[in-house]
Amino acid sequence: MNPQFQDKVAVVTGAGGTLCSAIAKHLAALGCKVVLVGRTREKLEKVLALPCEAQENLALPCEAQDRVPGAAAPGVGESTPDPRFLIAPCDVTDEAAVQALAERVLAEWGPCRFLVNGAGGNDPAAMPTRLRFCEADLNGRLTAGHHEKLTACNKGPGSAESPASPHDGRLSACQRGTGSAEPPASRGFFDIDMAAFRRVLEINTLGTVIPSRIFGLQMARAGGGSILNFASMNTYRPLTRVAPYAMAKAGIANWTQFFAQYMAPAHVRVNAVAPGFMVNERSRKYLCTPDGGLSPRGEQVMAHTPMGRFGEAEDLLGCVEWLLDDTRAAFVTGITVPVDGGFLASAGV
Ligand SMILES: NC(=O)c1ccc[n+]([C@@H]2O[C@H](COP(=O)([O-])OP(=O)(O)OC[C@H]3O[C@@H](n4cnc5c(N)ncnc54)[C@H](OP(=O)(O)O)[C@@H]3O)[C@@H](O)[C@H]2O)c1
Repeated sequence: MNPQFQDKVAVVTGAGGTLCSAIAKHLAALGCKVVLVGRTREKLEKVLALPCEAQENLALPCEAQDRVPGAAAPGVGESTPDPRFLIAPCDVTDEAAVQALAERVLAEWGPCRFLVNGAGGNDPAAMPTRLRFCEADLNGRLTAGHHEKLTACNKGPGSAESPASPHDGRLSACQRGTGSAEPPASRGFFDIDMAAFRRVLEINTLGTVIPSRIFGLQMARAGGGSILNFASMNTYRPLTRVAPYAMAKAGIANWTQFFAQYMAPAHVRVNAVAPGFMVNERSRKYLCTPDGGLSPRGEQVMAHTPMGRFGEAEDLLGCVEWLLDDTRAAFVTGITVPVDGGFLASAGV
C-alpha cells in the first residue's frame, strides 16, 4: 500500500460512469476511503456491486466486493456495507448540495484529500446532426431541394472516402454494447436549443468549479490535497457537432492552470487528464454501428489514432495515480496530460 493513499479521503464525481467507476475502485484498492458522487443512486450502487470479472485489471480484493449486497440503498453520504465507500447522490452543479455533502464527508470521514472531477458529458439536444453551414441554415428548416446540398454539408474529412476498416479485429469497445447508426442529417447548429447548450456548458465547467471551490477550501484548511480534472481531445481543437462540450473542455485546461497557481501556496495541486476516445454508453451511439463495427465517425477517430484502438478506463489509472500522488508528482501542478493513443500527435495524413 502506498502511504500517500492509505486511509485518505477521495471524492470522485461522475463515479457511476465508465471512467470514474474504474478510478474510484482503483483508489479504494490503493487504500483510500472513497466518496462516490453522481446524480443517480443506482449507478453508484452498481459500482459497489461490480463483479470481480469486470475488474480483472484492478488489484481489488474480491472478498471485499463479495460483502456488498446489491440491494443496499444508503442515503446521501451514508456508509455502505463496504467500509471503503460512501454513496453520495448529488448534483455537482448545485452549490448548496455540494456544500452539504462536504460537511457530511468532513464529519464522517475527515477532510477530503483527493478530488476527482469526473462528472461531465454531452447532451444530444445540444448536438447538430449537420457538420457545417448549409443553405438550410438560412431558412431554419429543411426543404426538399436542400437534401442534395446537405449531403455535401456532411462530407467531413474522411467521411465519404473512408476505406474499409483495417481495425476490425480491434473493436472490442464497440462490440460490448449496442451502437446505432449516425442520425440522419436534419439539424444544423442554428437549430440547437440554447437551454441545452447552457446545460452542457454548466455541467462541464461549473460542475468542476463548484466541487473544486468547496473541497479545495477543505483541503487548504487541512494542510493540502490534490485535484484532478477531466479535459478532452476537444480541449485542443473542437470536434464537429459538440460545440458547447468542446468549449467547456477547453475551459477546463484554463481553469486547471488558474486554480493551480491560486492554490499552490495552500499546498493544493491541480491537474487534468485529457482522455482520448474511450467508448461509454453515450459515445458508443456515435462511434459504433449496431453490429459492433465502426460508424463513419468511429472510422475517422480510428484513422487518427496511431495505436489503432479505443481507450479503456484502465488506460487512465497510471496517469491518475501519478498526478494525485503528492510524492511522485510533488512539483507537478497546472498541467493537462493527454492519454490518447497518440491522437494529438497524429496529423492523420
Ligand atoms: N469517455 C471518453 O471518451 C471521454 C473522453 C474525454 C473526456 N471524457 C470526460 O471524462 C469524464 C468521465 O467520462 P465517462 O466516459 O466516464 O462519462 P460517463 O460514463 O457518461 O459518466 C459521467 C458521469 O457523470 C455523472 N454526472 C453527469 N452530470 C452530473 C451532475 N450534474 N452531477 C453529478 N454527476 C453528474 C453521470 O451520472 P448521473 O447522470 O447519474 O449524474 C455519469 O455517471 C467526463 O468529464 C467526460 O466528459 C470522457
